[in-house]
Formats: sequence, structure tokens, C-alpha cells
Amino acid sequence: MDFYFCQAQPTDVLDLLKEAYGELVGTIGNQLKGHMVECNRRTATASLAYGEMLPCGVAKALHRLGVLPAPSRASLPTKSPEMGDQCTTGHEHLECSVSQGGPFLELGMGIGMVALQIFLQCPDVTHVIGIELSQSRFDIGRAALHRLVERHPENFQLRSAAVASFDQPADICESSLLDSVVLQDLRCCSKVSRTLEFRQGDFLEESVLSTEEIKSAAAVMMQLVQLDPFLYQQRLQHAHTGCRLLSLGDIRRTWCLNEPSLFHYLPAGANDLPQQLQEIDNDSNSFSNSNGQDLFSVSWNEKGVEFFVFVADSDRKATITKATAASAAHL
Ligand SMILES: C[S@@+](CC[C@H](N)C(=O)[O-])C[C@H]1O[C@@H](n2cnc3c(N)ncnc32)[C@H](O)[C@@H]1O
Repeated sequence: MDFYFCQAQPTDVLDLLKEAYGELVGTIGNQLKGHMVECNRRTATASLAYGEMLPCGVAKALHRLGVLPAPSRASLPTKSPEMGDQCTTGHEHLECSVSQGGPFLELGMGIGMVALQIFLQCPDVTHVIGIELSQSRFDIGRAALHRLVERHPENFQLRSAAVASFDQPADICESSLLDSVVLQDLRCCSKVSRTLEFRQGDFLEESVLSTEEIKSAAAVMMQLVQLDPFLYQQRLQHAHTGCRLLSLGDIRRTWCLNEPSLFHYLPAGANDLPQQLQEIDNDSNSFSNSNGQDLFSVSWNEKGVEFFVFVADSDRKATITKATAASAAHL
């Protein structure tokens, strides 16, 4: 077992992840909590292969996806119980700077650690949705959110996704809630609602992830192996221009729909990031091998693994088609 952190990873976010998931956060190995998985009728046909993107890899992914982490704004505590509904002095900028962007989707979230990190590290992202097929992995994620709320009730609360309003006590909501849970960030003032939602189910199904949600998504992370390309590519085609995708699979090689992909490959360095973030990106937060592959730190390979970043742009001439994928696959 080895620990694998990096400088660009704010320690306060790491501390919160450890409070939620335990000290093994950021560990390399194949005996992690998420490796244990149930087999049943629902999961029988899916690939339940497991591995985690580590906090350092997630920090890099956030840069690649154009989501700018603001570590200094993620610190706790930010609100004390005595303050009631008042914002902490100095925290008002959180409200002012929160963008109205669509949800950040973590498809195949495992135990939800990546989704929680995104939520904690990116105050400007108002809605993160993590979806996991395996009930046991989802349960670990839900338990982690409970632990976080127990430790920081002044900063977070849990609500049922099934309940539209946030005024019911958590225990009432939880009793009718088996398959989803919502963490609400109380650190913002009342005008801003920041939520992290864990859903248990198959993200290929409309009832689990709606087309409307895909249409409005600001960014998508998908770290899946052996998923039917036809099914997920059909879903991805609903993305709007500007949506970024970070994927373990390279759709330039696997595109199988007759219609061209809306997505275009975004090589490392072509991220139009502010200079300051590019420097972080090129420093300790990034590593690549001699082939120039864009590597991210993961739990199953201490050398890192290549991920691919794409941006949707329906106005641009297609660059990924079934024909280009067939040629790329033969290279
Ligand atoms: C390689 S793990 C990645 C976990 C997480 N993204 C991380 O980095 O820690 C992929 C996860 O996707 C889940 N999965 C596979 N197919 C899925 C589907 N159709 N819908 C939802 N989850 C799925 C698997 O059960 C597995 O937990």
C-alpha cells in the first residue's frame, strides 16, 4: 500500500475525505473498500471492475475539465452553530462567484469519493451527481456522507433526492429513501443551493439519469471499462456545446454510432486555462510518460493511467466518426 498525494491537492479537502471514508483515501492497491461487490441479477451483465482515481488525479481532471478549483474557498469551518442562518464573514464571495452551470456528472462513481472531492474542492460547481450500479458501493458512499454530516452538522446536511423541498428533517426523508441521497452545502447563503447527489442505478437508463440532465451537464467523468459503446455514446450525444468529457476509454477509437460525435479531442495543454493553473497542471499535479500520454494517478497503477478529454461542439466540423474510429483502431 502506498500513499499518493500531491501539492495541488488542498489538505482541507483531503482531511474531509478522510473523515468521510477513513485513512485509506488516496491508497494504491486492490484491497480497497470498493473492491468488495455484490453480484445479483441487476449487476450480472455489467462490468463491476473497480479502481479509484486518486485525489491528485481528480485535481488534475478538474483542471482538464475547465472546472477551476478554488482551494482557499473550500476550507472549514465556515459557519458556526451560533451564527444561525447568517453567512460567515468573508464567505459572501462564495455566493457571488457561484456559476449557474449545469450538473457535473460522475458516471460509475464507485463509492463516491471522486464525486465528493469535486463537491468539496469546487465551490463554483453547484450540483454534482454521482451514479453507481452496485448497491454495496453506493451504500459505502451514503455511509461516508452520513459521517461527514455527523462531524460537520453546521456545514452539511443530508436530504432525500425524492423530496423536492429541503425543509423536512433528514430522518423522515431517509426512511423513504433507498436509492439516492443528497448532501446539501450549508456554507453558502440561502440564495445558493449546492448539492451533491448519489444515485444507485444504471446511468444508461432514463429513469436514473434523464436526457435533460445530460443536456445541461457542464462536465462528465466516466471511468468505465467494457461498457457497451453504442449505449453510452447515444447518451453522450445529448451533451450541449461546451460540455467536457473525461473518459478512460478513447472515443476516437471506439465511436460506433452512424452519426458523428459531437465531441472533439482536447489534448493536454489546449485547455485555455489561466496561466496560474497551467503552471500547477504542468507541475506536481501532472505526469506523463515518454510517449506523451496524459496520465492520471489511480489506485491500480502507481505509474498512472491515461485518460482522454473531449469537448462537445456541434458547430464545429465533426472530427470523430465511425470511419475515423475504424482507421484509428487499426493504427
Ligand atoms: C472503475 S470504477 C470507478 C469508480 C470511481 N469513478 C472512482 O474513480 O473511484 C467504475 C464503476 O462503475 C460502475 N458501473 C459500471 N457500469 C455502470 C452503469 N451502467 N451505471 C452505473 N454504474 C456503473 C461499476 O460498478 C464501478 O463501481
